[in-house]
Amino acid sequence: DPLMITDKDEMRKWSRSMRAQGKTIGLVPTMGYLHEGHLSLIQESHKQTHLTVVSIYINPGQFSPTEDLSTYPSDLLGDIQKLKSVPGGVDVVFNPKNLYDYGNNDNGCGVGLDQEGGKVVSCVETGGMGHETWVRVERLEKDLCGKSRPVFFRGVATIVTKLFNIVEPDVAVFGKKDYQQWRIIKRMVRDLDFGIKVIGTELARDDDGLAKSSRNARLSPDDRQKALSISKSLFKAKFAAENGQNDCQELRNAVIQAIHEAGGKIDYAEVRY
Ligand code: PAJ
Repeated sequence: DPLMITDKDEMRKWSRSMRAQGKTIGLVPTMGYLHEGHLSLIQESHKQTHLTVVSIYINPGQFSPTEDLSTYPSDLLGDIQKLKSVPGGVDVVFNPKNLYDYGNNDNGCGVGLDQEGGKVVSCVETGGMGHETWVRVERLEKDLCGKSRPVFFRGVATIVTKLFNIVEPDVAVFGKKDYQQWRIIKRMVRDLDFGIKVIGTELARDDDGLAKSSRNARLSPDDRQKALSISKSLFKAKFAAENGQNDCQELRNAVIQAIHEAGGKIDYAEVRY
């Protein structure tokens, strides 16, 4: 069975004692409600290191108040069962309660609202004695998903920094499903000299082509069918591009049209190469 750790000092102590014994450590950061996509990251970690830590932490810092923090799916016992079923298992499950609670008895310790220039931006309080230090990868965080989710990558970069500082891993594994997230973490690790090897693994899909995702649990059968318009139209665009279609506008429009026809709302569709 994996060792369960909820305390950050205990986590750091474990890592330091293992590293003192010459063991290398892989970290797989997650928000739980695990599926095979997550499990493939663990298998990659096993290939890279002696020991593997999986963190399960729903990070309020990367949600805006209009997003789904309160309804994000979770199932810790189910997650632990899945982790036991992975070949090689995992060594530690790090499941902290609140990584923004600095024990200073101020209501800034918990989940609250962050005001920036009068605009509410994130589910973590920055006033009083609360958390106020953020890591920003300034150009990359504003592009693509960042346009409709202005606090998301700041929250991700910050929590991943905190996890790196607590776990002190040699290697960290991320999925290319969240391609922009992976690239932002790689850039942050380079720019700030973390000295951690960042690995990206391939996207795991269900048999029908839908990308595996914790949030899929909330799709009705009808929504799920609609969601397939995303992977279907992207595969079609890929096929067209590989067969000579080099007009990016055309590729983009075809994707937008297919998703709209399925009843989907689009934040953005862009061609990058
Ligand atoms: P979460 O959505 O739980 O994903 C954890 C990791 O699993 C990420 O690196 C993500 O890219 C990867 N992943 C998710 N679905 C995948 C799939 N279908 N195929 C391959 N990899 C997949 O991403 C986050 O959590 C958070 O932002 C986090 C990095 C933990 C910071 O809070």
